Amino acid sequence: MDIKDVKKVVLLGAGTMGQQISVPCSLAGCEVVIYDINEEALSKAMERIPGIFKGFVLMKKCTQEQADAALNRISTTTDPELAAKEADIINESVPEKPDIKVNIFSQFNKLCPERTIFTTNTSSLLPSMIADATGRPDRFLALHYHDVSITNVVDIMPHPGTSKESIQLVKDFALRTGMLPIMMEKEHTGYVFNYMIGAVFTAALTLKTRNVTSIEDIDRAWMGVTHMPFGPFGLMDSIGLDTMLSYTEFWAEKNDDNHWRKHAQLLRSYVEQGHLGKKTKKGFYDYPQPAFMQPEFLKGIE
Ligand SMILES: NC(=O)c1ccc[n+]([C@@H]2O[C@H](COP(=O)([O-])OP(=O)(O)OC[C@H]3O[C@@H](n4cnc5c(N)ncnc54)[C@H](O)[C@@H]3O)[C@@H](O)[C@H]2O)c1
Repeated sequence: MDIKDVKKVVLLGAGTMGQQISVPCSLAGCEVVIYDINEEALSKAMERIPGIFKGFVLMKKCTQEQADAALNRISTTTDPELAAKEADIINESVPEKPDIKVNIFSQFNKLCPERTIFTTNTSSLLPSMIADATGRPDRFLALHYHDVSITNVVDIMPHPGTSKESIQLVKDFALRTGMLPIMMEKEHTGYVFNYMIGAVFTAALTLKTRNVTSIEDIDRAWMGVTHMPFGPFGLMDSIGLDTMLSYTEFWAEKNDDNHWRKHAQLLRSYVEQGHLGKKTKKGFYDYPQPAFMQPEFLKGIE
């Protein structure tokens, strides 16, 4: 398949990431179908996506007319057969649980045309962990997005069995949809940016679980020195505390690490109350006006 033949993009999962990824893909002229098992998740996605377009218009990444036309190219379904029909590229953003990912890829392998390229947006798993389940390991790799409202950086990470043609096509797709691809030569947990920020999250969670200082002061220190608009806890809120918990629990058990178990315990105390971060309007901070965005949060800092 050539990049000019890519017309239909299917996004598996209508959560935080499925919603975001639909925006650059539809702006690039692709037909975008978002598939989810949950009807309500799809309705919520269609309520939230216009807000992501609004941000793009405000940042002058597109005009209002382009945003309106792109929104018309996005549709949703709970019907896997309908979603899979004539799919050129799939990007999967279902929860960070290996068995859910394995099942959905194996399901879509049976429904999709031969040519369909499968990509995963996993944050922490390696494509080789799920490659066999896709039934098309040569046409499977990771295409990993960050928050598209903040950055167009994407990681492209093949596994040893991914074909050169699939890597090239996904790179071309990233470029066509306005993304900046970071090409990884080999599999590495956490890709590039996430590997670095993961170390910051671990440090921030350690400082908190050891009761060294408050969540606010950890973020204040980070923001005050780096002049970034959020600190590690604010960023975890926008990623989603449930996503952070799945990741932390998985690696705590895999590495039998008690520090990480304490980090998971802290995250779980929020998740169990339904406080998942920005998407539920409550996490480490309250939204839409989190304390770290108020002028007094950094008062006195030069
Ligand atoms: N949140 C982030 O900032 C971020 C960034 C990059 C990558 N990721 C990765 O993207 C993936 C999704 O994260 P998210 O934050 O969008 O999660 P989310 O919880 O916001 O959304 C997941 C969606 O998947 C749906 N779902 C669950 N099981 C399903 C199934 N079997 N079939 C179809 N849909 C199903 C849920 O209904 C939900 O709408 C994870 O692997 C995560 O690690 C997340």
